[in-house]
Amino acid sequence: MEKVKICLVGAGRAGEVHGDVYKFSIPDAEIVSVFDTDLTKAKNLASKFNLDKTRAFTNFDDAIKNVDFDAIVITTPTFTHRQYTEIAAANKKHVFCEKPMCITLEDCDKMIEACKKANVILQIGFMRRFDDGFKNGKQLLMEGEIGQPLIIKSVGRGPGLPGKWAYDIKNSNGTLAEVNSHDFDSIRWLAESDYKVIYSVAKNSKNPEIGKEYPDFYDNATVLATLNNEVFGVIDSVCPCDYGYDARVEIVGTKGVIFIGYLKEHTTITCTRNKGCVSPQVLSWKKRFHEAYIAEDRHFIECILDNKTPIVTGKDGKHAVKAVIAANESIKKGMPVNL
Ligand SMILES: NC(=O)c1ccc[n+]([C@@H]2O[C@H](COP(=O)([O-])OP(=O)(O)OC[C@H]3O[C@@H](n4cnc5c(N)ncnc54)[C@H](O)[C@@H]3O)[C@@H](O)[C@H]2O)c1
Repeated sequence: MEKVKICLVGAGRAGEVHGDVYKFSIPDAEIVSVFDTDLTKAKNLASKFNLDKTRAFTNFDDAIKNVDFDAIVITTPTFTHRQYTEIAAANKKHVFCEKPMCITLEDCDKMIEACKKANVILQIGFMRRFDDGFKNGKQLLMEGEIGQPLIIKSVGRGPGLPGKWAYDIKNSNGTLAEVNSHDFDSIRWLAESDYKVIYSVAKNSKNPEIGKEYPDFYDNATVLATLNNEVFGVIDSVCPCDYGYDARVEIVGTKGVIFIGYLKEHTTITCTRNKGCVSPQVLSWKKRFHEAYIAEDRHFIECILDNKTPIVTGKDGKHAVKAVIAANESIKKGMPVNL
């Protein structure tokens, strides 16, 4: 295989992010087609990557039949992830699927099973695991720099509301899935242990008009978790977060503390008498994790070319889905949920 040929499944925000990475940062990969149920979006993204309109599809079967490719990158709404994974696997295509992996645990099992049966790769989009700061924090923790981890607190505050499809919790599993799947994964990955008990509270404070149509919608939540190795996990979720994009982790250990992530966009500070000292903050997930998306997508291509298992698998995706479902159940019942 000279270059890994890719069909982008989804031409929205995340589709463009991955498309840009493949087009401009990964010489071993080539985007050959774009599929989205919205023809204008499919055509626009295809055109951005110098593909003519015959490479833009609104039907996935047509995309498979008409243009040869090796892998798909799924960035469509969460409730579609299983469907496209199963079709792709049945056609021997490798699958990169954005988080959240899917809606139910049965979906997760079917996706894992389909890819295993077809002997194709399934990688889930937890790009924080490819970020230098997160990787360094994990390494220091593993080397015992702060002793045994006691509490891992993960802040996940998204800058803007996701697409309208995500307002309905049945289609998305809510903000804890859409924004905080990353936090659930980071805590489990850093602690090297699975979730045992989860308690969560949530409310809709800033979007009453959305609440009228979608009564289960929430825009801020807190999760308290105990993992099997007795590490405590704390997730703090706000979306939309008015001041920007805030993704930081704090690991308190028996001998010290590790801080991962940053809120200041760069080192410039402007000081004036009237405004005080001002430094621009991080506003965008696309920019904050730009390098991590490149490393994540490069890893997917390397796994295909070298026939390797990705470092983020369907099993990891399933653990995050399981934790999110438990957190949503806890919100509904008002009590802790055992996993
Ligand atoms: N890893 C990350 O940091 C990250 C960031 C953003 C989004 N995401 C994930 O990517 C996925 C998409 O999010 P987004 O923000 O790009 O959404 P979006 O709404 O911007 O884009 C979704 C696209 O899917 C298309 N679509 C809708 N229904 C479809 C269907 N049934 N079949 C095919 N196409 C369909 C829409 O036309 C749209 O172009 C979600 O799972 C989200 O959680 C991950």
